[in-house]
Amino acid sequence: MIKFFIENYGCQMNSSETDSLRSIFFDHGFIEVADPPLADIAVINTCSIRKTAEDRIEGRLGYYRGLRDKKGSKVRVVFMGCMAQNRGKEIGEKYSDVVAAVWGTYNKGGVAELIDSLKDPGNNNAFSLAQESYEFMNSSPRERLKFKSFVQISHGCNNFCSYCIVPMVRGREVYRKSGEIIDNISSLVDGGVLEVTLLGQNVNSYSDSGLDFPGLLDKISTVTGIKRLTFLTSHPKDLSKNLTEVIRAHDNILKTVHLPLQSANDRILKLMNRKYTFDQYLEKISWIKEIKDVTISTDIITGFPSESGEEFQDTLDAMKNIMFDEAFMYYYNPRPGTPASSITPQLGMAAKKHRLAELISVQQKIMSERLASFTGFRTSVLMESPSRKDPGELIGRTHNGLMVFMKGDKSLAGKIMNVEILKPSGTGLKAKIL
Ligand code: SAH
Ligand code: SF4
Ligand code: F3S
Repeated sequence: MIKFFIENYGCQMNSSETDSLRSIFFDHGFIEVADPPLADIAVINTCSIRKTAEDRIEGRLGYYRGLRDKKGSKVRVVFMGCMAQNRGKEIGEKYSDVVAAVWGTYNKGGVAELIDSLKDPGNNNAFSLAQESYEFMNSSPRERLKFKSFVQISHGCNNFCSYCIVPMVRGREVYRKSGEIIDNISSLVDGGVLEVTLLGQNVNSYSDSGLDFPGLLDKISTVTGIKRLTFLTSHPKDLSKNLTEVIRAHDNILKTVHLPLQSANDRILKLMNRKYTFDQYLEKISWIKEIKDVTISTDIITGFPSESGEEFQDTLDAMKNIMFDEAFMYYYNPRPGTPASSITPQLGMAAKKHRLAELISVQQKIMSERLASFTGFRTSVLMESPSRKDPGELIGRTHNGLMVFMKGDKSLAGKIMNVEILKPSGTGLKAKIL
């Protein structure tokens, strides 16, 4: 029996591919182990979005090499995903003693064959890095939360934001056929899945024989029987009023939208090649805010090349005005080969981190205020799992995407229940089951 271990890095796209991969391993009779030293095969599904991610992943290769050299392990690594696509040749050669296969972001159809070939302990150094057509894998439920699943609807990105490596490692956009998406979700529902998150780098550019993203969302919401439906990520330039209307019209679509702003300064947005102005972004926010009880999250980059103190101030002011419920904030990280990495002047690490710290402290206050505003609010929650700190407490997500903690038995995990919000608690809310 071949034992495998998977480690996953990066965004939900990678998590989704990891969930699918795990089920293909099971189909091939492999068994999953919880500790890397017990594994015959270690899959690392990698990310290249920031240098810190790549450094950490390279450290893991050193770890597996150590297991072989010092602990007598025979573990072989399958190096997959975005960093494999980006630096696969170099990594495969540098770690040829431990890496059995380097598998980029394409050729998912070849994965089953790859897995089969791993049964032969002598098989080494398989490479698949050609940027050929992408094949969508069937989506499987999450590893621990079997009632939730990611479902990919598109792959790749055509936007070429000047700082971003994704278009280089994931290639141009391709869209999964709507019939296939609907069949996949219907069978997930039959298997007990309650919540589906549709995934694409830019879901709003989805298109299949005249069906656009709002049309697809409307159809999935109506025909599949899914109880909770949401999606990631919307590019602000492509979010339409029609989309917000579809969200409003269906009770089973979660009332939460992720709309990455990146910067609120028009000169910086232009340099980022985001293709919207701050005013256009604000207009989209006003449409979204017409959705009752909606929450909004965003992504921000601080210290983009040439960003002045005043330009950064525009972003701080925007955060105070818009009041996002959640923000994912990063300091700018030059990625080799992307246009922004050669814009001058590049800011020093101290300035980038200082701006990030300032932004985080502003956002923390905003988040506390937003959370406090939900006191007394009644909503439904999908109960997920017992909290680590207190096994008598459950963690769940509300119908508008907020994290809540409430007293309750672990047998309630996987149930949708009505709750009342009691008070803020850290980055979430305390609630009681009604
Ligand atoms: N497709 C999604 C985002 C994918 S990457 C979208 O367009 O919204 C997730 C986030 O990582 C981005 O929104 C951006 O804020 C951040 N990011 C991407 N490249 C980065 C870089 N070079 N440095 C810092 N942050 C970056
Ligand atoms: Fe990267 Fe921009 Fe595409 Fe998002 S939309 S993946 S930030 S290039
Ligand atoms: Fe990382 Fe690739 Fe996602 S670079 S953020 S895993 S698309």
